[in-house]
Amino acid sequence: MGKSILDGRSKSLIAKQQSIQSLHSLIASTLEQHGITENHIEADIIIMDVLAITRVELISSQDSIVSADQLHSIESIITRRMRREPLAYILGYQPFYGLDFAVDSNVLIPRPETELLVEEILNTTIADNNLSVADIGTGSGVIAVTLAIMRGNYKFYAVDQSAAAVDLARQNAKAHNVLGKINFKTGHLFANTTDKFDLIVSNLPYIPSSRLDQLDPELSWEPLQALDGGTDGSEVISKLIYQSALHVKPDSTIFLEIDHSHSDKLINIANKIFPASSIQIKQDLQGFDRILIIKPFGRNLT
Ligand SMILES: C[S@@+](CC[C@H](N)C(=O)[O-])C[C@H]1O[C@@H](n2cnc3c(N)ncnc32)[C@H](O)[C@@H]1O
Repeated sequence: MGKSILDGRSKSLIAKQQSIQSLHSLIASTLEQHGITENHIEADIIIMDVLAITRVELISSQDSIVSADQLHSIESIITRRMRREPLAYILGYQPFYGLDFAVDSNVLIPRPETELLVEEILNTTIADNNLSVADIGTGSGVIAVTLAIMRGNYKFYAVDQSAAAVDLARQNAKAHNVLGKINFKTGHLFANTTDKFDLIVSNLPYIPSSRLDQLDPELSWEPLQALDGGTDGSEVISKLIYQSALHVKPDSTIFLEIDHSHSDKLINIANKIFPASSIQIKQDLQGFDRILIIKPFGRNLT
């Protein structure tokens, strides 16, 4: 096992001169000792963040000496990370679809699977339309904000039951200059609107309540209401499909991120609510069913 960054407490480390290269090894081995498997990637991210350098600069300046202040900042990040607090919460942001989003412990850290959901919508819509979009369970706002940037003509309704999440989503919309395009609300699913939408998109919680205490330690830092999908994990998404009946137009499409174990059940519900629907499932990069696309009346958007 390698030397830990906190061996002999930090004073000697801060006083000591460290090159980027030696610091990287020290961070990576410390994270590994604490069960963090993506230790090298995280060491890169931590150094780039604290030194405010790009990946190219990280690679080309391996012999540069890190200042005592920078070592001190890195040490406080590592101390929190050793308790398995997610790095995104410690640094205060998470990249999503090539953009940075502010995150804190009131919102789920956006996941790569959700980038597939956004990608699917971008692949099946055209920019010139003027579509209305509902993002239900917006969290940090990643879906609505990314789509608002990519689809400048569309209008968005974004809701979350957590007021703190909605505040952060607003901040993200402001930071990305799309605040005026998104109508944010706090509330339960469609409770605050009677509107019908061209697109309904949603990444609601889908983990069964009984599995919540068996997850990686990092997930215990994330908000329960962003993870807990009820007894079998599909309760909230099922409710959304039922309620969407009042909020679709003849050409609407519903895009849902789901857990692969729920696809049959959710397809049955969609067929029951929308007997004329056409339904598609898309897999994630691991080959698991991940995105459920429902065209309630079987018609194409464009
Ligand atoms: C899995 S997180 C996804 C957040 C964000 N859309 C993303 O993809 O990163 C689910 C979000 O749905 C919200 N949520 C859960 N149940 C809800 C409900 N019944 N009505 C509105 N929002 C809900 C949670 O507060 C949480 O922010």
